[in-house]
Amino acid sequence: MSEERDANTPEAPTEPPIPSVPAPAIELTGLRKEFRGTVAVDDLTLRVGRGRFFGFLGPNGAGKSTTIKMLTGLLSPTAGSIRIEGVDPAQDLLGVKRVIGVLPEELPLYERLSGEEYLLFAGRMYGLSRAETRRRADELLDFLSLAEDRGKLIVDYSQGMRKKVALAAALIHSPRVLFLDEPLNGIDPVSGRVVTDLLSSLSKKGVTIFFTSHVLDVVERLCDEVAVIDRGRLVAQGTLDEIRTQREVGGHASLEDVFLKLVAADVKRPDLAWLG
Ligand SMILES: Nc1ncnc2c1ncn2[C@@H]1O[C@H](COP(=O)(O)OP(=O)(O)OP(=O)(O)O)[C@@H](O)[C@H]1O
Ligand SMILES: [Mg+2]
Repeated sequence: MSEERDANTPEAPTEPPIPSVPAPAIELTGLRKEFRGTVAVDDLTLRVGRGRFFGFLGPNGAGKSTTIKMLTGLLSPTAGSIRIEGVDPAQDLLGVKRVIGVLPEELPLYERLSGEEYLLFAGRMYGLSRAETRRRADELLDFLSLAEDRGKLIVDYSQGMRKKVALAAALIHSPRVLFLDEPLNGIDPVSGRVVTDLLSSLSKKGVTIFFTSHVLDVVERLCDEVAVIDRGRLVAQGTLDEIRTQREVGGHASLEDVFLKLVAADVKRPDLAWLG
């Protein structure tokens, strides 16, 4: 007799459906990058929930930028897997690029364009209409206090102005996931506050922000979760409170105290007695 179920046969009672947990916005598993035998990122596994403001911390050379380059398709991993909003950049890089905005460590700006031309170019590249690109570019230039310098060539921009126009280009297509490598470096305090307020409001609207910074009081103010890496390896992840508890530091320890304990505890330094 056929085992096939007749369409009219009542279904056997099934388990109640498991409530669907939203897929993480960013997921990396066993991620590794070697450069000519040097391990820059070593078996890194992380999940970042949608809408999180996630601080990715570590000392110089820890592997933060290398990780961001792999997550955004600029470098291919030596091993491990990546999903951004469920999409694997190794399979569908364009699909990933459509949903992400990236402010890389080294700004790939077109020096011979003005700031305004660069934004118009970026918007059109993402497939926005001419009118919509123009509207968004104008608003971003105003928002970041670049309106007066909109016609100046990027080659003549100051460092902070370059950072701001690159940030505007990363935002123009309204990405769902933002990767920002040192976004505040070189930005003046007024624009810095404008940018951090904007990022906070984006994260409240559900945009996921993956952010590196060495300015730990800003990270402490903004981020709802952090990960700390050292020599390519994850050394802590969680909310600041969770990390304080795991590492048995006092409840009032600042993120800077925790960071120093995590990554500098065993570092011996010469006293430089000859200096001064
Ligand atoms: N293209 C490359 N070729 C060889 N080694 C590299 C390359 N890029 C990075 N590295 C090495 O990988 C390690 C991690 O570098 P990475 O730039 O990811 O650090 P980081 O955490 O971003 O540091 P910083 O805080 O200084 O920006 C370093 O040892 C660096 O020298
Ligand atoms: Mg870096």
